Amino acid sequence: MQFSLAALPGDGIGPEVTAEAVKVLQAVGSRFGHAFNLHYGLVGGAAIDEAGTAFSNDTLKMCQGCDAVLLGAVGGPKWDDPQAKVHPEDGLLALRKGLGLFANLRPVRVSPVLINATNLKPEVIRGVDFIFVRELTGGLYFGRPKRQWRTSRGRRAIDSMAYSEQEIERIVRVGFEIARGRGKKLVSVDKANVLESSRLWRQVAIEVAGEYPDVELEHMLVDACAMRLIQNPAYFDVIVTENTFGDILTDEASMLAGSMGMLASASLAGVPREGVNIFGLYEPIHGSAPRRAGLNMANPLAIILSIAMMLRYSFGLIKEAQTVESAVDEVLEEGYRTYDIMSEGKLKVGTREMGDLIVKKVWARK
Ligand code: IPM
Ligand code: MG
Repeated sequence: MQFSLAALPGDGIGPEVTAEAVKVLQAVGSRFGHAFNLHYGLVGGAAIDEAGTAFSNDTLKMCQGCDAVLLGAVGGPKWDDPQAKVHPEDGLLALRKGLGLFANLRPVRVSPVLINATNLKPEVIRGVDFIFVRELTGGLYFGRPKRQWRTSRGRRAIDSMAYSEQEIERIVRVGFEIARGRGKKLVSVDKANVLESSRLWRQVAIEVAGEYPDVELEHMLVDACAMRLIQNPAYFDVIVTENTFGDILTDEASMLAGSMGMLASASLAGVPREGVNIFGLYEPIHGSAPRRAGLNMANPLAIILSIAMMLRYSFGLIKEAQTVESAVDEVLEEGYRTYDIMSEGKLKVGTREMGDLIVKKVWARK
């Protein structure tokens, strides 16, 4: 089969880890007889330096013409001035909105061999395997009014947490569909004791639940969810929530897996169903880690696992996705570690060496 892919390496360690992901994808292509055609573009600080904007219309068009988008990371101290007119993060937000990527999937799985890489007690994180479904194109990030202004009594600012029932319905549906294919337990997170947008969220979740009698729905307040994620993370199967809550809770949840360098993500433009290929953007959840850039240090596993998600959701290549996931498990089982997950007695490797190890496993796959 033939697929086209937009690759936006971005800033910091972005280009290094993207190179490893592309290596793995090409290995999958050769091993299983698919052609992945790559088109490179700029995003974030790299785009600001080149063209003055964090993301251009041409790049958007290029992405729209492809089957999926692969993104490294954006941002860095060079572009951090809060007074600046453009920020690298604007590029990411424009991409999400421009491509209609409303469903952000962030799986959190604690690999048994990395159980000692986290700060939590092994008995707390053993068996953790859940997936966050974060709404990605609404809420505080995009709601209007959104501005700062001066008044006679000082400066004021406003952001708006706005949701329509259609926006809530489609994301809650993603939660139900994914729960249906897993443990059939969906936790919908809101702040319905205080926020109107959350009250609507909860009502719509209850309405959609009528179509999924096989899935158990539980509502959880966001503060309680933050607590439960540390107290008993193995409790969760699928969590669905709005944009800002999801942003905060997924950083918290990433610490369960030991390192942000292990967590993949998919941002989809539709509801994932078996046999349907959906346009999506795939990226590691970690940032650009500017201090690690150019040192062949960064852990490429998060973006390599994002490739597995791309194979599954956008290309419908399930066996190929499993091959990449097993390759990661096997390389970790053999004791290879990048610096961020290193522990005593293990074999420390760099970014490129880790990529090569995964490629070798892909080739060895029966
Ligand atoms: C994330 C990031 C982004 C977000 C930033 C970089 C705009 O934190 O993907 O979680 O807030 O969504
Ligand atoms: Mg975040």
